[in-house]
Amino acid sequence: MLATNRLEASIAAVVADANLHARWLNTFSYLEYVGFRKIVKSQRAEALTAEILTHALEEGRHALGLKKLALKVGGDAFAAYAPETMLCGEEAEDYFQSLDKGCDEVFAALPDAERAKLVYCYVTWLIERRALDVYGVYKTALGASPIAGRIAGLLMEEEKHLSDINAEIAANDPEFATRAPKLEAMEAKLYETFIDRLVAELSRSPAAASA
Ligand SMILES: [Fe+2]
Ligand SMILES: [Fe+2]
Repeated sequence: MLATNRLEASIAAVVADANLHARWLNTFSYLEYVGFRKIVKSQRAEALTAEILTHALEEGRHALGLKKLALKVGGDAFAAYAPETMLCGEEAEDYFQSLDKGCDEVFAALPDAERAKLVYCYVTWLIERRALDVYGVYKTALGASPIAGRIAGLLMEEEKHLSDINAEIAANDPEFATRAPKLEAMEAKLYETFIDRLVAELSRSPAAASA
């Protein structure tokens, strides 16, 4: 089964159980926070534009928005990012860090400034596409829940990030057509691994097994 279909098959169990749902929200809050942190740390001030600063702050805002939802659904136990308050949090971070490292290796031969720019562009491009996919599946599973409205707002911002980065790549990387398929394949493999682990974790959860 494709990774997207496997997520669709698992997500109903997640949203049906408050504890699993809060852990899911907290995991994505954490990933948004890691995204925010990565953008801030990877950009040298000499090259930091208003667009990149806006992007970082919006990812930080997504982290906070999802954190507030995790608190609402799960209560005070979700105040921070303790491992037991997430759903495969370590595996989610592995996905993100491996993706970043993989992109960094692809551009390793370039001078620092150029490499930093292209790594930012491609990590963003890959992550935003995946975020649209995952948040889209999640929003559908939420149905008429008020949380769906919050996710719709988040999706609109992720769409804007993707169109901005598409424009940035088109303006800066003439080798996009040859690089993109290889990077897409690398990301897809990492995402498959994450979904494998998520599905395995859910199969161990009594709440998910009985949903
Ligand atoms: Fe985001
Ligand atoms: Fe984004």
